[in-house]
Amino acid sequence: MRVLLIGNGGREHALALSLAADPAVHQLIAAPGNPGIAAVAELRPVTATDPQAVAALAVEVGADLVVVGPEAPLVAGVADAVRAKGIACFGPSGAAAVLEGSKTFAKDVMTAARVPTARAVTCGTPDEVAAALDDFGAPYVVKNDGLAAGKGVVVTDDRAAALAHAESCGQVVVEEYLAGPEVSLFVVTDGVAAVPLLPAQDFKRVGDGDAGPNTGGMGAYAPLPWAPPGLVDQVMADVVQPTLTEMRDRGTPFVGLLYVGLAITATGPRVIEFNARFGDPETQAVLALLTTPLAGLLYAAATGSLADHPPLSWRDGAAVTVVLASAGYPTTSRSGDVITGAEQPGVIHAGTARTESGDLVAAGGRVLSATGTGPDLIQAREAAYRLLSGITLAGGHYRRDIGLAAAQGRITLP
Ligand code: AMP
Ligand code: GLY
Repeated sequence: MRVLLIGNGGREHALALSLAADPAVHQLIAAPGNPGIAAVAELRPVTATDPQAVAALAVEVGADLVVVGPEAPLVAGVADAVRAKGIACFGPSGAAAVLEGSKTFAKDVMTAARVPTARAVTCGTPDEVAAALDDFGAPYVVKNDGLAAGKGVVVTDDRAAALAHAESCGQVVVEEYLAGPEVSLFVVTDGVAAVPLLPAQDFKRVGDGDAGPNTGGMGAYAPLPWAPPGLVDQVMADVVQPTLTEMRDRGTPFVGLLYVGLAITATGPRVIEFNARFGDPETQAVLALLTTPLAGLLYAAATGSLADHPPLSWRDGAAVTVVLASAGYPTTSRSGDVITGAEQPGVIHAGTARTESGDLVAAGGRVLSATGTGPDLIQAREAAYRLLSGITLAGGHYRRDIGLAAAQGRITLP
């Protein structure tokens, strides 16, 4: 199988490692890729958000399967353009990716499908926002209605800050605060059949103890030793199947990766958000434990034959991923600082670049991540932090507490 992978982040590097390790894959091409992906794939330049350019590249390289990593190309309709060429594509149509692209649309689908989620209202004016904030009370949750690379959400007790965020966004969704530990559940689906991966947890805030602003994600671990028994089955039955049915009924079946972000509240699991693609950095941790060949799984989803795919198999134990971010992230980011020590297995590139002289440098906010595995979370954490301790980046920063509360048994369910 010849596979074309679209994207250039840490998620795509993790996907590339798993795809390259699948014996059915005899050629892996990534576009545009990054210096880490270059070690396992042939890189081609492309504007990932240009549907015709991606489809033309898929034809040119003779791809049997195209895997689209990030949300922006999906929302732009890249999967539609690839399928129009008769090539199998893992990723939802532009119409189905609106599940991530518009928070209002996602709420509408959840209401129609009776999926448990936070009560919410879409607001277009400051007066509407103020009324909604007072209706729900603190902590206030204000979300940019469109795509915002994980940074469009403000959760705060400060009413003025909530109002100011709304004003900077235009149309927003204001919603009820959901209290309880968060879960990221990734579901591979062909639109009808659906297969869950191991549940994971990510760390959205920049600082230890969940201090500071939200980021694209500073670390993750899987699986979740504290998860209530039956959690995954319950989410498949109460959230995933009704959502897939609703999307089919609307004439926009969802094919690809449905990312269900949940809070485990006192009244059970409730959806915080849907995404239309693998999460980053949870993918790095989850795929480190998957032993089922990835290309075969994604091909089955892309071609409507997931029901015939064998059950997934997993390594025992746990995986922990810690993100190294550049100076200033998430407010700003600093590019050009030299990275040393990154040529080790388990190091996943995101915002890196290679200079003409061959140096590896930072080229973005989230620069790379280190993934460790082990028989339990304590040892997986040790492996990830040991890997990171061998890497230098001026001004680089990372959280010290990824997976710590879970490893110490300190996560409690409401
Ligand atoms: P989102 O982009 O919707 O995933 O939001 C980013 C983060 O904000 C989530 O991972 C949560 O930590 C937090 N968040 C979003 N919505 C809520 C909510 N209704 N209640 C509590 N926390 C939320
Ligand atoms: N880890 C959060 C995301 O991918 O949106």
